[in-house]
Amino acid sequence: MLENMCKMLDKAKKEGYAVPHLNINNLEWAKYILEVCEQQHSPIILGVSEGAAKYMGGYNTVAMMVKGLIKDLSINIPVALHLDHGSTFEACRKAIDAGFTSVMIDASRFSLEENIEITKKVVKYAKKKRVSVEAEIGHIGGTEDEISADIGYAKLEDCIALVKNAKIDFLAPALGSVHGLYKGEPKIDFERMKQIKDELNIPLVLHGGTGLPDEIIKKSIECGICKININTELQIEWAAGVRKKVADDQNVYDPRKIISGGEDRMKDAIVTKINLLGSANKA
Ligand code: G3H
Ligand code: ZN
Repeated sequence: MLENMCKMLDKAKKEGYAVPHLNINNLEWAKYILEVCEQQHSPIILGVSEGAAKYMGGYNTVAMMVKGLIKDLSINIPVALHLDHGSTFEACRKAIDAGFTSVMIDASRFSLEENIEITKKVVKYAKKKRVSVEAEIGHIGGTEDEISADIGYAKLEDCIALVKNAKIDFLAPALGSVHGLYKGEPKIDFERMKQIKDELNIPLVLHGGTGLPDEIIKKSIECGICKININTELQIEWAAGVRKKVADDQNVYDPRKIISGGEDRMKDAIVTKINLLGSANKA
């Protein structure tokens, strides 16, 4: 059933696990993820970046596709359809109008004041439609240089200001995680994560879930993380499966067979993540 992220993340917060946020790039990915999560009885957040939405045709196409899959595959677990890293009010508005049940407004590149203003505008629009809102503070890096730079880490007082003023449902504070593959050891600031959790008491979100060792994932959940975003890792698994399929069968040309080459590896990786995050049987 399609719903916003409020109930599912409140339950995760109370019971001490995290809900997986897995990015989708096409119909097959959405189908694989829904099938595995239904089988594992895990709630799921389907994350869609602006780029992925554009690639699939647009927000309406994505929303209708996901709704169709939920119906046709008889999916009964809680599913949230979430705009990942929405960069503007307009992008969030379009996703909401198309039927997304949750949005992330990522105005973290602006000053704190501007971030609050843009986020507030999104919250006002989203609330009218019962859509949940995640916002980001600090800078989730993409390179080794960025993770070692102190400027990337969210400050406690900024987190408080954003949450209190913009009245968001969930906060993604940048605390040392990066998007894509880690080039060095991840340096996660658990101390600050715990402080933010204690001070704000709302579900926290960890971006850049790919490549984080299991102990870091588990410790993050103990420190208040209720949603973990994973994308690159699934891309790597899926691509390895497709490569093998094509290498093993030089005559394959049916796109269904080529794309499905990545299905098993991707599904196995999802089951592993669900078990690590503790979301199995929480639907
Ligand atoms: O918003 C999406 C992510 O934070 C995914 O990061 O590709 O490093 O797993 P990742
Ligand atoms: Zn992210």
